[in-house]
Amino acid sequence: MLVVALVAGAAWASTAEAAGDGCAAGAAGAGDPYFPGYGNGGYDVGRYDLDVAYNPANGNLRGRAKLRARATGTLCSLNLDLLGFAIKRIRVRNEKARWSRHGQELTVSPRRPLKRGKRFALTVRYGGVPVEFRDLVTGVPIGFTPTGDGAVATGQPESAATWFPVNDHPGDKAAYDFEIEVPDSYGVVANGKPKGTEPGQPGWTVWRWQADAPMASYLTVLGVGDWDARRWRTADGLPVYDAVDSTITGAHRTEIDSSLAKQGAILDFLATEIGRPYPFDTVGAIVDPERPILFALETQTRPIYAAIFWLDNSFQPANGDYVVAHELAHQWFGDDIALRRWRDIWLNEGFATYYEYLWVGAHGGLGPEQLFDALLAGLPADDPIWSVEVGDPGPEEMFSDAVYARGAMTLEALRREVGDRDFGAIVERWARDRAGGHGTTGQFIRIAEAESGARLDDLFETWLFTAEKPPTPATVRAGASGRGDAAAGRQAIEDLRRRLALGAY
Ligand code: TRP
Ligand code: ZN
Repeated sequence: MLVVALVAGAAWASTAEAAGDGCAAGAAGAGDPYFPGYGNGGYDVGRYDLDVAYNPANGNLRGRAKLRARATGTLCSLNLDLLGFAIKRIRVRNEKARWSRHGQELTVSPRRPLKRGKRFALTVRYGGVPVEFRDLVTGVPIGFTPTGDGAVATGQPESAATWFPVNDHPGDKAAYDFEIEVPDSYGVVANGKPKGTEPGQPGWTVWRWQADAPMASYLTVLGVGDWDARRWRTADGLPVYDAVDSTITGAHRTEIDSSLAKQGAILDFLATEIGRPYPFDTVGAIVDPERPILFALETQTRPIYAAIFWLDNSFQPANGDYVVAHELAHQWFGDDIALRRWRDIWLNEGFATYYEYLWVGAHGGLGPEQLFDALLAGLPADDPIWSVEVGDPGPEEMFSDAVYARGAMTLEALRREVGDRDFGAIVERWARDRAGGHGTTGQFIRIAEAESGARLDDLFETWLFTAEKPPTPATVRAGASGRGDAAAGRQAIEDLRRRLALGAY
């Protein structure tokens, strides 16, 4: 059997080469220096159809992933990312394909080369118990993770490869169809719109979810559990689907519900401030108990939140509204406009933090102006926050306080430099020009200069690419922002540090 397979494989390879097709192997990475193995080259996925059955009783997952893609070069083979599992069968253009595996690289060799520019379908059947996967820096479990009452699959910068074969880099956005089969007593929530349920094998139910807007793979989310699901519409008619773990009750649950009820108002506020409507056609939240989920993540259309964000009510204004504002701001910055390279992470976290603070500032707390003054006045030059180059923080510091706080301060510095009107025009143009696609720091700087007519290379050099405390601008004086006194400054710093320590968000 093995011998037959090897002989057949050799025959296919020689057919491809003898035909003079000039085919090449697709790259094993997307060319991102932060994570050289993430993603792949040579093709572009348009849609993933994921049929997955998960049995919480024994942790076994069985999947069939169908990718519709286009070759961007003529390929004798291409790579996918997949962690763990046994592969049962792979078909490319309806013909059996060979494969080999090395770490998370799954190399697929179709019987005939894939011609540049041509569309093809590729189907992988696989199964097994998902491997454990942890965040590189924090060691927090990410990716497909069993919970007390099911499982969740979420995480950044990589998580999708723990449950389906994928081109796992945000540079390749795609649409997704999910058909998730679980025993009848479980519910399933994912990105996009619910498309109903149907009976599966006896005692099981298939849940369909559809996410049509192009999405980065790390923004996919899957929640299997016992959910209190709520479907409602915002005042603007946007359909909402919230799923809160049914074991969260009492005062804790009341706090969560109160924040989730504000999603429509928060989106309206953000849309007005950004100058662009909410980019998707559905929204909602997934809230799971604090373990194993120790963070919030901006999973597209449906962020996931650890319930821990609603256990500390000492922030101003009270409760976890700020984290909802943060994850919803990411829907514009990070999701609709995705990263080409992970080094530009401040475009996600700096923007989400800036708009989070704007919302908080409009609701009785400190805004980005006060944060800016407080951090400059209150954090000495040797504070570690100043030693990170937030425009190129490296994989270890990607989610450090500096990227969030100094990233937001970069936008505030820009606003002070160009004024409110030009700042508004810059953000609006950024959100419009890059909508549905990707953005880079260089593109943002060019838009900022074009809209303001100012030369801004010094400003961005100082704020993004210098590992030192920036000089304090003249606009920072005690009382200048109304709250620039020392006590307010200390409070702002303490709040920020506690928020960031509560969970990565
Ligand atoms: N990007 C997330 C947020 O800002 C936070 C985050 C950083 C995260 N690293 C993570 C979430 C790892 C999950 C896993 O909302
Ligand atoms: Zn964030």
